[in-house]
Amino acid sequence: MTDPQINRSVEQRLETAFAVYRTPAEHWTGPLSVGIDLGTSTCAIAVVDAQGVPVWMDSRGTAAIRDGVVFDYWGARDATASLKEDAEAALGVAFTRAATAFPPGVDESDSRACGFVLESAGFDDILLLDEVSAANLTLGIDNGVVVDVGGGSTGVGVFRDGRLVALDDRPGGGHHLDLILAGSLGIPLEQAELLKRTHADDYLGILRPGLERVAESIRALSLGAEKLDVHLAGGALMIDGADRVIAAYLGRPVRSYPHALYITPLGIARHAS
Ligand SMILES: Nc1ncnc2c1ncn2[C@@H]1O[C@H](COP(=O)(O)OP(=O)(O)OP(=O)(O)O)[C@@H](O)[C@H]1O
Ligand SMILES: [Mg+2]
Repeated sequence: MTDPQINRSVEQRLETAFAVYRTPAEHWTGPLSVGIDLGTSTCAIAVVDAQGVPVWMDSRGTAAIRDGVVFDYWGARDATASLKEDAEAALGVAFTRAATAFPPGVDESDSRACGFVLESAGFDDILLLDEVSAANLTLGIDNGVVVDVGGGSTGVGVFRDGRLVALDDRPGGGHHLDLILAGSLGIPLEQAELLKRTHADDYLGILRPGLERVAESIRALSLGAEKLDVHLAGGALMIDGADRVIAAYLGRPVRSYPHALYITPLGIARHAS
């Protein structure tokens, strides 16, 4: 069962993350921790205080990762360096330590590449974890299926008694929804991305097969965990009604969160504390 108390405090954290996007918090407690999320569509930084409260969020539209590997190393390095510099200037703190995350299912050398990006951007103490574990450091789910659907992939982790017992990912995310919308309406990808964000209600019928493909990945990667609630992190499912489509396909409770694209970056930052 999902604890409503836990959900409320998670929602508050996410609202705070939204409020500190490029606007530093006025107060914080204890040392700050930094997380860098190198994504398929964005590179993001999250800075949290000793209580895990967000004090600074920022992002760059740099596609650092493709198919689970760092494919734009220099773009990722520049984005990370600029995110670091702006966070330091805004908060008046120099950062040398940070965590970053790798997609589930990547091998060790690819996960190390994520660390090298941070090193070349000026961090010298770097921690690594997988994206789904990072998401769950924010959500705090003891028993449940935690899903991170970003621009390019759907990562799925099964947690039992607070332990990660299964982890994998499949292609399929927000970029694929853009492709479906662009192809169906005969419009450029950029326009499809904008329409998806602003008028998803009008296009849910068109987007449904793409959402059901994500749901099918969740089903296939959480076999044997059908009794557990599903928790949705990542930007791709920040579409009104996406959670209902996925719940209907899976036939089990699905929980969505506000500002879900901040869930994983915030968890990465907590890992650095
Ligand atoms: N308000 C929104 N409504 C709908 N979709 C959104 C919204 N905001 C972001 N997205 C989508 O979320 C995706 C990016 O999400 P996120 O930042 O979690 O991905 P990422 O971390 O870059 O990718 P990945 O985790 O696959 O490497 C994009 O496809 C974008 O279109
Ligand atoms: Mg991501």
